Amino acid sequence: MKGLILAGGAGSRLYPLTQVASKQLQPVYDKPMVYYPLTVLIASGIREICLISTPQDLPRFQQLLGNGSQWGITIEYREQPSPDGIAQALIIAASFIGSDSVTLILGDNIFFGGDAFPRAFAEFRAGATIFAYHVNDPERYGVVEFDAAGQAVSLEEKPAQPRSNYAVPGVYLYDNDAVAIAQSLQPSPRGELEITDVNKEYLRRGTLRVQRLSRGTAWLDAGTSSSLHEASAYVQTIEKRQGMKLGCPEEAALYRGFLSLDQFDTLVSSMPRCEYRDYLAETGAEVRRVGIKSA
Ligand code: TTP
Repeated sequence: MKGLILAGGAGSRLYPLTQVASKQLQPVYDKPMVYYPLTVLIASGIREICLISTPQDLPRFQQLLGNGSQWGITIEYREQPSPDGIAQALIIAASFIGSDSVTLILGDNIFFGGDAFPRAFAEFRAGATIFAYHVNDPERYGVVEFDAAGQAVSLEEKPAQPRSNYAVPGVYLYDNDAVAIAQSLQPSPRGELEITDVNKEYLRRGTLRVQRLSRGTAWLDAGTSSSLHEASAYVQTIEKRQGMKLGCPEEAALYRGFLSLDQFDTLVSSMPRCEYRDYLAETGAEVRRVGIKSA
């Protein structure tokens, strides 16, 4: 399974912040936004990752994330010249995906809690797996409707009259057919290759699995100034209470066995003195003492 992080887009709702740095590089409390989806991929066992962003922002992501070797993974980069839709990522990254299956995750989606993702990744065989999350404002998202037996029966992108409160978060698992499906799409009336159209094709084929995320999972979207602030406040609250960080790729890489404890210690010692380094140093010491804390 390969991993794709989509971190382009206009970020117009975060203007003027996004005049100088893209949305996915903005801080969510104590780390850049892109660390959160990156950590979801690492924690789910994905080692080959490709990040897609705009030609202007890509060098910044490369500066931040490098080639991934520090976390025991590989990160490649591809440009999306203009924001022509989420499904375009599958076309842009076709040579990276090769004949593999792929997970696409949006660079501004933040998740916490539950083990739904690692489980879904481990169980994934073919077709597509997407998720559904109960929200107050489904009209802002792709919306999935279920029948009484819990089967997904319809998918609609930003419907004016949503048929349910279940929105589709920005994590999609696809078999290799997704590339050809994306290549066959026509742009929607808003001029984008819609990821909902890829999902609808899997629904039509009868190979779409929609897994409802439990209320124990938090899904935050950080696309507006107030949701960005709320996401930061949420992360701060949890981190302060638990003494454990969210969205920490170093820790996920250690827990997943992508880094040995010695490699982890070397990485931590290369960081400047700061709270982030202190946390990781303590994590390494704790793992040496009592094993991993909690996934
Ligand atoms: P959106 O939040 O829908 O769009 P945006 O990031 O351009 O923001 P705004 O509406 O404020 O202008 O995008 C969801 C995610 O998908 C976000 O991480 C950006 C990414 N994206 C791309 O990388 N390329 C695209 O073509 C689109 C449509 C989105």
